[in-house]
Amino acid sequence: MKALCWHGKGDIRFETVPDPKIENPRDAIIKVSSTAICGSDLHIYGGVIPTMKSGDVVGHETMGEVVEVGSEIVRLKIGDRIVVPFTISCGDCFFCRRGFFSGCERTNPEKGMAEKLWGHSPAGLFGYSHLLGGYSGGQAEYLRVPYADVGALKIPPQLDDEQVLFLSDIFPTGYMAADFCEIQPNDTIAIWGCGPVGQFAIRSALLLGAGRVIAIDTVPERLSLARSAGAETLDFKECDIYDALQEMTHGRGPDACIDAVGTEADATASVDSVIDRVKVATFMGTDRPHVLRQAIQCCRNFGTVSIVGVYGGFLDKIPMGSAINRGLKMRMAQTPVQRYMPSLLDRIEKGEIDPSFVITHRAPLSDGPSLYKTFRDKKDGCIKVVMTP
Ligand SMILES: NC(=O)c1ccc[n+]([C@@H]2O[C@H](COP(=O)([O-])OP(=O)(O)OC[C@H]3O[C@@H](n4cnc5c(N)ncnc54)[C@H](O)[C@@H]3O)[C@@H](O)[C@H]2O)c1
Ligand SMILES: [Zn+2]
Ligand SMILES: [Zn+2]
Repeated sequence: MKALCWHGKGDIRFETVPDPKIENPRDAIIKVSSTAICGSDLHIYGGVIPTMKSGDVVGHETMGEVVEVGSEIVRLKIGDRIVVPFTISCGDCFFCRRGFFSGCERTNPEKGMAEKLWGHSPAGLFGYSHLLGGYSGGQAEYLRVPYADVGALKIPPQLDDEQVLFLSDIFPTGYMAADFCEIQPNDTIAIWGCGPVGQFAIRSALLLGAGRVIAIDTVPERLSLARSAGAETLDFKECDIYDALQEMTHGRGPDACIDAVGTEADATASVDSVIDRVKVATFMGTDRPHVLRQAIQCCRNFGTVSIVGVYGGFLDKIPMGSAINRGLKMRMAQTPVQRYMPSLLDRIEKGEIDPSFVITHRAPLSDGPSLYKTFRDKKDGCIKVVMTP
């Protein structure tokens, strides 16, 4: 089959690889109908995710038609159309039973490596390094879906791919970011990053009753999409974000601050962003947490900092003094996607949201290598890419 494969920093290739096979009785194989590029894939493209191997098939936002099922699959049959959550979960361990699917303790065969780095291992993920299981990703013609009857969501025929594909990741992720904020009527929520995840966080915060959403980025079309949802916007290159948020909230700070940027924050935003960039480039640091620092400093006393932007290692100069003395609550996770999928599908079916609003680029899978670049560089108005094999 054809697939997008990683070969090093900035090097994604459209290549022929072996077809996936059923390896376990709880596997299913799908013929991919649509697959998207995620901001998390950009960390792989940027070479900042360790333990990738040359030739690894990437991608974790995928849907398609079931073409083969293992002998223990009961919920799915050949011909079903499913969206696949990016987190691989057994459905039956200590964590899965509590709804913490991204903490599944059975799906990372390379646990030891993750335990060394993080103390404990999270779930395995599709197409996201050997540290997280070494599973082949979904930017391909076919995908093997382990534990396919856990979470893989059956899609009713009246909904098209573009309306439901993002249930695999960015819609639940943006929704979780807002959910973490335990929004009360009239709350002000500040959101750093108006990429695809930030866009879903903005709309979710409004769906959950926020009085005011203030969205921060510098890319004009992303800020404009945020405004069209009802957010006020700030450009971090045009103003001092701390001062602006203070002024907009009468000196108190937003009730909750969402970091939807993560480890690859713009390196020119501030002095600490430049220092982060130099440290990572010289192997003196693992991450660039400028946005997290700023979100903590900006948040009101006893407010919530909700972190969905991804970080990998040991972050420098996080203002814990500010957080503890002012009673901040911090929430964060790789999204336990399966927990949110059914209720969000319900919101789509009721017409409360149509997730396809974020798509700017539609193309065949073979265009993947150049689209990674377009998406990374935010060229050509690119906000979200959907590819069809
Ligand atoms: N927690 C999860 O489960 C999960 C799931 C999906 C994605 N993510 C993460 O969410 C993050 C965003 O993903 P995306 O797809 O929207 O990516 P993206 O790269 O398209 O968007 C990031 C946005 O942040 C903006 N930005 C950069 N520096 C900034 C700053 N200083 N202040 C404000 N905005 C700034 C960029 O201009 C860009 O628009 C990534 O880190 C991704 O890995 C996490
Ligand atoms: Zn993702
Ligand atoms: Zn489990």
